[in-house]
Amino acid sequence: MVQRDHMPSFAVQTEQRVYENIVERGAIRRAREFVGARCAKCFAVTTEDVWRLHGEKLRTQFPDGLNVLFFPGGEANKRFAQVETLAEQMLERGADRGSIVIGFGGGIVTDVSGFLAAIFMRGVPVLQIPTTLLAQVDAATGGKTGVNLRNGKNLLGSFHQPVAVLIDPEVLSTLPLNEYRAGLFEVVKCGIIRDRALFELLEREPDRVLEREPAAVDALIAGAVKIKAEVVTADEREGDLRRILNFGHTVGHAIEAETEYIRLLHGEAVAWGMLAATRLTELLGMLASGEAERIRRTICRYGPLPSVRDLQPDRLLGRLASDKKTLAGKVHFVLPTKIGEVKIVSGVEEAVIRKAIAETLERTS
Ligand code: GLY
Repeated sequence: MVQRDHMPSFAVQTEQRVYENIVERGAIRRAREFVGARCAKCFAVTTEDVWRLHGEKLRTQFPDGLNVLFFPGGEANKRFAQVETLAEQMLERGADRGSIVIGFGGGIVTDVSGFLAAIFMRGVPVLQIPTTLLAQVDAATGGKTGVNLRNGKNLLGSFHQPVAVLIDPEVLSTLPLNEYRAGLFEVVKCGIIRDRALFELLEREPDRVLEREPAAVDALIAGAVKIKAEVVTADEREGDLRRILNFGHTVGHAIEAETEYIRLLHGEAVAWGMLAATRLTELLGMLASGEAERIRRTICRYGPLPSVRDLQPDRLLGRLASDKKTLAGKVHFVLPTKIGEVKIVSGVEEAVIRKAIAETLERTS
């Protein structure tokens, strides 16, 4: 692996905005550069935990004051009511159309603060500073923002591209191990869908990755962010290519909804979803068993995953129909045809989907 002298930056180019995803140790201390003249009306949305651990690095850049708004965190709080509360707090503190929101936290915080920025006075800019691995490699970049409805994830939302994404791998040193592992599953996803070498790095170096060796962590983040930036640039609105980023999310979202968003972290549900999609691809005869086994082994190496044995395959099948990836009643699956390549397939027989889900739920990861 190459030790980098300087860390990379990956551009996302969309009609809405062109911006950089900067992967750099210490990047939080550069936030002020991206806020520009709006610093008097800057609103950081964060959680108390993140603020206690990392807030000082942000606060010291705003000697004239930074408005800090606390969000309770947790998937169950990712609801519209919280966005309304945050918007009212912004108004009480003098926010106007010239204000900027800084999303400073994990994926839930970056989704909620992005959505807040998207609809506050019909839209103000957002700077994303993700502090979990999952948010760094996926949630904070690409402009998807939103909140959950009772029946499903992210069913209320908007595309709102940030002015920049500052990814500081240093913050990961304080991340709880289960959250770090959950983020790794999104990196495994990137390898499976588009980058065999990235997958092989995860397959070959689990000890260095799990020990959070800086060179390994930085290489994984850069590899995943590069893919995300390329895919979003090619297809901002998920008309086509961007759907590959949903590998593992079809069944994963159903598992999250079925467990009421409290039992599994998003990345863990995606890991179960990737196992189900991999088994489905094998059952359809579209993936060689050797490749499927490598995928399973690598996912499980970054486990253990919380058990989902008690879930009912039929209830998960029912949930697939209400997912927003379902179009005209057809469930779409992202299926790996080999490591580094996927196909989007719809119209799979229900009995085969049920079998793949049932066999996956029985597994101990
Ligand atoms: N997390 C999937 C996407 O951004 O499209």
